[in-house]
Amino acid sequence: MREDELFEKYGWMAERLKGVLSPVRYRHSLGVAFTSASLAMRYRTDVEKAFLAGLLHDAAKYMPNGEYLEKAAEFGLTVSDSERLSPGLLHPRIGAVLAEKEYGVTDPDVLAAIASHTTGRAGMSLLEEIVCIADYIEPLRPSLPLIDELRELAFTDIDKAVFLYAKRQIEFLKSSGRPVIDERTAETYQYYGKKTGLLEES
Ligand SMILES: [Fe+2]
Ligand SMILES: [Fe+2]
Repeated sequence: MREDELFEKYGWMAERLKGVLSPVRYRHSLGVAFTSASLAMRYRTDVEKAFLAGLLHDAAKYMPNGEYLEKAAEFGLTVSDSERLSPGLLHPRIGAVLAEKEYGVTDPDVLAAIASHTTGRAGMSLLEEIVCIADYIEPLRPSLPLIDELRELAFTDIDKAVFLYAKRQIEFLKSSGRPVIDERTAETYQYYGKKTGLLEES
């Protein structure tokens, strides 16, 4: 596809995102799009799907907490205890619905990758893993814990990167005193811990 055709195809989406997201969130979305595309090159999977999923992954991340719960009800999404306590956790699944309704995305692989970022899930597709990790490691992220390790690991062993990411998320949730640890994050931790053999060592 030619560069101007690509711009036609995705330029309006970027403009629309720019209109709803904060400037920081918009720039982060571009960072995740390009990082996802880079990881897709590394793992020889669909670069365009990775770019699109990365671009739109935070399409819903502009709502106040109450609106996440309203949208979840409107879209018929189940809401777990941890999501009720931290409604922001709903932004990936609400974002997948918005990607379809407002941005016309129909590709189920792309929608799944938007829906599972943040928490991951057991048995993610490669595309889901890519967007989940790209969200954490994109170049504009401030220096988050384990960022250097995760940036390297993402390009050498993405399963290990997902495990380490989930482990760090759980440690963060525990240290911030959350009464309920998000069950999807816990599943991601268990699944990738077993898959990589790192669970026993950690
Ligand atoms: Fe997000
Ligand atoms: Fe994000």
